This record gives sequence, C-alpha cells and structure tokens, in this order.
Amino acid sequence: MNTHRKVSDKVAISDVTLDESIYPREKIDHKRVSIFAENLRENVKFDPIVVQIHPKKKGKYRILDGAHRWNAHKEVGLTDIQVIILDLEGMEPLLYAAKMAIGPKQLTENETRSTARRAFQNNSRLTSSEIGRLIGRSRQAIDNYIADLRAVRQIKLDLKIWRMNRLGIPQERIAMRLGETRNILRNHLVKMPIMAKSPNSDLSSGLTIPQVAVKHGWSEPMLWSLVLKGKSDQTRFKNLGWGLRTWDLWNFNDCDPRFGDEWPGRIPAQMIGHILFYFSSPGDLIFDPMAGGGVTADTCLALGRRCWSLDMEDRADSRPEIEPYHWNMTIKNWEDTILAGREKPDLIIFDPPYFQKKAASYGENSIARLPRLEYLHFLENFFRFFKKNTKKTTRFALINSDWRDFQSCPALKEEAQNAILLTDYYKILETAGWELTHIIQAPLSSERFNAITVSAMQEKKILGVTSRYILLLKQKPDIDKK
Ligand SMILES: C[S@@+](CC[C@H](N)C(=O)[O-])C[C@H]1O[C@@H](n2cnc3c(N)ncnc32)[C@H](O)[C@@H]1O
Repeated sequence: MNTHRKVSDKVAISDVTLDESIYPREKIDHKRVSIFAENLRENVKFDPIVVQIHPKKKGKYRILDGAHRWNAHKEVGLTDIQVIILDLEGMEPLLYAAKMAIGPKQLTENETRSTARRAFQNNSRLTSSEIGRLIGRSRQAIDNYIADLRAVRQIKLDLKIWRMNRLGIPQERIAMRLGETRNILRNHLVKMPIMAKSPNSDLSSGLTIPQVAVKHGWSEPMLWSLVLKGKSDQTRFKNLGWGLRTWDLWNFNDCDPRFGDEWPGRIPAQMIGHILFYFSSPGDLIFDPMAGGGVTADTCLALGRRCWSLDMEDRADSRPEIEPYHWNMTIKNWEDTILAGREKPDLIIFDPPYFQKKAASYGENSIARLPRLEYLHFLENFFRFFKKNTKKTTRFALINSDWRDFQSCPALKEEAQNAILLTDYYKILETAGWELTHIIQAPLSSERFNAITVSAMQEKKILGVTSRYILLLKQKPDIDKK
C-alpha cells in the first residue's frame, strides 16, 4: 500500500473529526468505547489513531482508523490525542479505513457490502479486484455487490459517448475527456446502433419524446437528433415547433427549456437554431468557445450539426461535451493552445459574458470582471485569433447586447466612455479582420423589468437596454497576401 506516514505530536481532540462518508462501519459500538475509556482512566497506553488532513476543512483532520479510541478520549474528557497523519497518495480513504477495520473487529457483511458500493460510487474506475483486496473479499463477491451500480455506470457512459460521438468529437478526445482507453471507447461505439433500438421502438409505438427521455435516461436533444436524422432543416424547425423567422428581427419570449441548462445569461435555443439555419449547413462544424449551459451543443444535435464547445466551468459528468478551457487574457496569442492541430470550424458562435453584467454569476477569472478597456482589448485579441485560426470561409456570429451605465442614471447624463455599444464591437471586429454581413436584432425580453422598476425609471428618465444583436461576419480578404 503506497502511503506516506508522518508521526506527529498530539493534536487537539476538537481538530479531529469523524467523516461519515469515509467511515466503513454502520455505527459506533458504545460498549467498546466504554471499555476503552475505562482502560484510559487506568492509564493503559493506546496506539495513536490514524488521520489524514481534512480535504475540505482547513486545519482539521479526519479519522482513517481509531474512531472508538477517539470517542473514548472524548468520554474521559481528554483534550488532545496522539495521531499519525497519513498521506494516502490518491488511495480511496474509505477503502483504507475498511482495510484497517479488518483486523481488530471485522466489518459485518452489510458494512462490507456498503463500503464496496460507496468506494465504487466515489471512484468508478476501481476494479473489483482492487476493492476486494483492500476489504478482504474475493473479486466475485465485489462483482455481486456492485453489479447494479456498474450497469448504471455503463449506461451513463454509453449515453455520454453517444452524445459526444453524434456531435462529431473525435474519438481520441472523447476517450481523454471520459478518462477511458481508446479500446474501451471502441467497444462502446460498436454498441451505439443497438442503443437506439429501444427508444426508437418506444417512439414508434406512440410514446412522446419527454416520455422516452425519462424512460431511457436520454436527453431530449439526443432523441431529437435520432428522430430528425436525414430530415431537411425546414422539417426540423416544424417538428421542433419553432416558427421560422423570415426577416431580421428574431424575438423570442422565452428560452426553450428542452435545450441547454439553467445558466446565467442563457440564450434561447430558437436563436441558435436560426443562426444555424441561415449560416451553416447540415454536418458543418460549429465552435462555441464560451459554451456555458450548452444550448449550442444541444441545438446542434437537433439540427444535425457537429459541435465543439469550451468553457472555463468544468461539468465533466453532466456536460462532458463541453471541454474545460480558460481563455487566459495574459496570453498574447493563443496559437499554440487548445485549437492547435484541430479541424477548423465552419461557424463560430460566440456568446461572451457581457461586460460587467452578471459578473458575479461567473467564475472569478471570467472576462465579465475586466475593466472596460481590458475587456475590449481581450475581445480584439480574441477576434484576431479567430481570424488567424479559421478557414477563409468560416462565418462568425457574435451575440451581444449594448451595455450602458443606465442603472441609476438619467439618459441625458450617461457618458459614452462608460458604455460599450454595437459600434464599439464593430470597430474592433473590423480592426481584427472581419467584415459585417448582417446585423440581426434579437431583443431581450423587457419583462425582466418589473412594474416598480419601470415606474422608477420613468420618473427619473432612465432609458433601459433590451436591445441585443447578432452580428454576422466573414473574413476580410488578407491585403498582405493579395
Ligand atoms: C453568457 S455565458 C454563455 C451562455 C451560453 N450561451 C448559454 O446559453 O448557456 C458566457 C460563458 O463564458 C464563460 N467564460 C467567461 N470568461 C471565460 C474565459 N476567460 N475562458 C473561458 N470561458 C469563459 C463563462 O463561464 C460563461 O459560461
């Protein structure tokens, strides 16, 4: 067992905690505690208890072995206790604790079963042999204990792979993201056509998409991807119930709840659907560099586009298709970063956090927290980077909203240098080598202002912002290369 021991002096009893999530026994045996307490009163010496530094509570330790001795110390009224502090070097603490428990007082059958299950739930990459070795059971016994958990995990893994594969993410990236080998991934990929059989037959026997989603654990966008396969964009819109806007005013009252997660600054899937409809073709590769709640990826599934997404927030379990990546503003050029060697996208959909708005809802390193000039500088760099790292034919859709400091300021007193308007974005896009082909209005809903706010604004002559635009751009020809 690879562990680093560090003998320590005594530590305060109050700094030692019993963490139930890594405690293998069902309950403390109070009779045993009383016997230990009696021994302590008679000055019998005990071995030090074994602890590890608490991963979540600063300055505290959690018990790996010695819960009864620790309780006895408390019962006697002692204020400190001799400990050995262990560094488990990545080993599952629950399994270590279970191994230690084997000697003095065997775990019951229930406790062993529950420990094996909890260990697998904490780390599903543990093999039955590894678990069995540590808790003193055979591989077959562990296989029986965790058979149902393993089956659920397999299904979840299959669903993740299905979704990522459908979005056109290359196999080596799927394997890396899910922490599986290429071989395991290939074995799962072979099963993909069979996986769709039951949902398909339920759909043909009249169950609705939401019913089948619940029954089989599929997301609705995945099912749409299945049922709409091979259909035209127009038919897909009809089936999804999205009225197709024929002009350049795209107003939607609400976000379609079937696509993307609840997320600060979530945009309507219908809007992404329209961008895809007019500015990409089925099978195209769409790139969303700040993907948030995953609306773009979900909409791409429904409309048969491939999609690669990044975001600084990592949600490996619920959104494995969004790769974790932080665009670091101190890097002058991103050439050698994540996009190096990857296929170039046909369309970029970029929905950055708007300047300052909702800054507190995003991570600390989000660009929403930058001062105005740095924010614009970051975007200019970003636009230049896109220009250099995409195809001549790549289209670019920038979703943005005017930012004006109107909150408590009458319209007449607003200052231009405090605002970022459509024209500011346009200027930096131009400098970075992009030319505008369309400006589409996609206003925010004004319902977000309640009646009291509206009347206060009217009183003070404050002019709010509900405008939002989608700027569509293509690359300006490179003058140097002409
Ligand atoms: C407006 S949200 C995107 C919302 C998304 N379109 C949706 O509908 O769910 C902007 C995203 O940018 C991400 N972000 C901000 N700064 C970033 C950075 N420097 N690198 C990577 N992601 C960043 C935030 O985590 C946030 O999820």
